[in-house]
Amino acid sequence: MLITGKTRVCGIIGNPVEHSLSPVMHNAAFAELGIDCVYVPFRVLPESLKDAVHGLRSQGVLGFNVTFPHKIEIIKHMQKLNQTARQIGAVNTVLNAKGDLVGYNTDGIGAVEALRQNGVDLPNAGFTILGAGGAARAIVFTLAETTSRIQVLNRTFEKAKKLKREVKRKLRRDIMVLPLTKKCLTQALSTTNVLVNTTSVGANADPKGSFLDELGLDRRMTVFDIVYGQSESMLLQKARQQGCRTIGGIEMLLHQGASAFEIWTGRRAPIETMRRALASHQVKQAKDNAW
Ligand SMILES: NC(=O)c1ccc[n+]([C@@H]2O[C@H](COP(=O)([O-])OP(=O)(O)OC[C@H]3O[C@@H](n4cnc5c(N)ncnc54)[C@H](OP(=O)(O)O)[C@@H]3O)[C@@H](O)[C@H]2O)c1
Repeated sequence: MLITGKTRVCGIIGNPVEHSLSPVMHNAAFAELGIDCVYVPFRVLPESLKDAVHGLRSQGVLGFNVTFPHKIEIIKHMQKLNQTARQIGAVNTVLNAKGDLVGYNTDGIGAVEALRQNGVDLPNAGFTILGAGGAARAIVFTLAETTSRIQVLNRTFEKAKKLKREVKRKLRRDIMVLPLTKKCLTQALSTTNVLVNTTSVGANADPKGSFLDELGLDRRMTVFDIVYGQSESMLLQKARQQGCRTIGGIEMLLHQGASAFEIWTGRRAPIETMRRALASHQVKQAKDNAW
């Protein structure tokens, strides 16, 4: 594309950010809709966050995504927060509204849309969520709007209990929380049919000794691993072998990105173009790695 003085800028700030797939899908979406905008990754260290945000704002960027480790810290640099971002306590998307930075969180919407598009009957499903970090918080707050059957298991149990208190206070909904042990996981899975992993454990090449070892999966379950890499996670491999329906993290990335795109442009995101761009990038990466 031809970049001129009129070309708007969008981007993602984080550290590390060089492996982000967001530029691939957003640049494809801008090109598809003929929007003169370019999406760029910006590596921003924690000590430079304030200056980076000031720079982006004064350059008049359309908006930007926020990733690790800035999703919470960015809040103090926002002029406004939308309700979902306030409830979750983290921001992954910023809109530059004529100089006012407005913080959103599209991670939960992205995950819920990935579940819905893959045939999960949200109001009637029972969910076991592994992890209580930033992504899990976004997913739980969004899911809790449509279902009451949510169990959260976390290694640091206090964090799961804090999430339960917050969901109760902010949404007036109840979730069940358990420590992340094999026994509790077996108990949780016996009463739910959708497993959502938000911890890095499922991605590990060798899950031996982790709670995934001897994980009892039933083929009627849906297994969604939000952590994505260049190959299918161990958890998803295992789930697929058991005959479960599987959903990869790229689906969440796609839908959270589509939601961010709509916030920035006010236009419907060209989802299939974004999906194709991600898929062909992954094929290219796999070929490059094979060499
Ligand atoms: N697909 C997408 O679009 C998308 C979007 C957002 C995030 N993600 C991915 O989701 C993952 C989590 O992100 P996050 O922002 O939620 O991170 P986070 O806030 O750091 O939370 C990490 C979670 O993983 C748990 N955990 C880490 N190592 C563990 C281990 N060895 N055993 C058991 N639990 C472990 C942590 O438990 P403790 O509380 O006990 O430490 C915590 O619950 C990342 O890989 C990120 O790239 C994907």
